[in-house]
Amino acid sequence: MKGRVEAVVGAQWGDEGKGRVVDALGGKVDVFARYQGGANAGHTVLVDGQKYVFHLLPSGMLYPCKTCIIGNGVVVDPDQLLNELKELQDQGKDRARLVISGAAHVVMPYHKKIDKAQESLRSKGRKIGTTGRGIGPAYVDKYSRCGIRVEDLLDGEALREKLEYNLDEKNMYLTKIFGAEPLAFSEVYEAAVKWGKALAPYVEDASLVIDEAIREGKGVLFEGAQGTLLDIDHGTYPFVTSSSPVAAGGCVGLGTGPGVVDRVIGVVKAYCTRVGEGPFPTEDTGEAGAALREKGGEYGATTGRPRRCGWLDLVALRYAVRVNGMSSIALTKLDVLTGMGTIPVCTGYEIDGQHEEHFPSGVYRQGRAKPVYERLEGWSEDISRCREFEQLPLKARKYVEHIEEASGIPVNLIGVGPGRDQTILRNF
Ligand code: GDP
Ligand code: IMO
Ligand code: MG
Repeated sequence: MKGRVEAVVGAQWGDEGKGRVVDALGGKVDVFARYQGGANAGHTVLVDGQKYVFHLLPSGMLYPCKTCIIGNGVVVDPDQLLNELKELQDQGKDRARLVISGAAHVVMPYHKKIDKAQESLRSKGRKIGTTGRGIGPAYVDKYSRCGIRVEDLLDGEALREKLEYNLDEKNMYLTKIFGAEPLAFSEVYEAAVKWGKALAPYVEDASLVIDEAIREGKGVLFEGAQGTLLDIDHGTYPFVTSSSPVAAGGCVGLGTGPGVVDRVIGVVKAYCTRVGEGPFPTEDTGEAGAALREKGGEYGATTGRPRRCGWLDLVALRYAVRVNGMSSIALTKLDVLTGMGTIPVCTGYEIDGQHEEHFPSGVYRQGRAKPVYERLEGWSEDISRCREFEQLPLKARKYVEHIEEASGIPVNLIGVGPGRDQTILRNF
């Protein structure tokens, strides 16, 4: 019998709580697989009061006897990955078997330098607010077919030849365009050889491992990083990341066909946040937005930057349902809305005096979109101990049902706190 395959994707601008949703579902999953992005991600998991933040490792690493995969679509920063692994090993918590695709690309030191230099040269209004993790430049090399892949780190001579070619070009770019210091070949090469030795035990054909698991009837979970509106094609371009967080990216980034995916679970925060620049129609720059930030602890898990906060955007949610083929919602942080008074939810936009019900294409129209709000009644009872839908106050239930009506798909998981057990499962 074919194993069940589920994709967990961010439905907004990232940081929706994907890590905690993956962790909450983990008991039923045998294989956890990251398919895109890199160390720009920060996925928080809270187990027995201890907090873990995963940047490159899949969020299933804490489960014993499972397999965690870093797929070909990911860009791997070896230092970051090895540090994360060591931290877990030191605590005796590296319980899963780790598999890294040889076809995943490597984030090299020059990618991080170029990322930061490019960002500092961008004028106001053009800054993206990247995480500085070298993501964009690493994907540029991948697509211009000069990138260094994990498998190249295992072969000293191939590595030398590829690195010489790359470093000549990158040093020219760094010194002539950005006026930065060049990188010394020997330093980068020696570091890369060390990475190869350290990563070698984990390098396998990830696509084959997933295929075998599915054939053996095992549960597989694709773990998205970032979110739909940061997608390189479907997000608020150019204020996006350089990969495809949407569910279809899971198949490309892991080497499976689209037919294997049984369910696409979109992680939706009960309100909205964004970190970095770009359009955010429901942003609240006033006191209410600040209250959401404080109550929700909305500070980046990777960079520590304060997240921009605002209200749930149902226009953007319907768009996310469409471009991901979402069939289920995991709604997180409902508890943060407790005691907020009436809660605005955006049901449409006004753009240049016209009513718009669909998420517009193009950053100019997105930037001019003014939210049309419906105000829903709030609740003040503590919901953090609720474990059944029926235990929620009526108005909190109505809030959830409103989301189901507007999106056309069910809310099957509700987060009422950051802990592993602080979830309500409904017809899951
Ligand atoms: P990710 O990048 O999508 O995995 O999300 P992050 O980990 O960057 O940010 C989500 C934050 O919200 C983390 O600090 C989580 O511990 C926290 N969180 C997740 N779900 C809930 C929830 O239901 N309630 C509360 N209060 N916090 C939550
Ligand atoms: P998780 O997986 C939120 C944002 C950055 C910036 C833009 C491009 O934790 O949800 P990049 O470094 O990728 O070139 O930056 O994307 N960004 C994220 N925002 N959550 C993330 O990941 C993000 N990863 C990148 O802030 O605006
Ligand atoms: Mg995050």
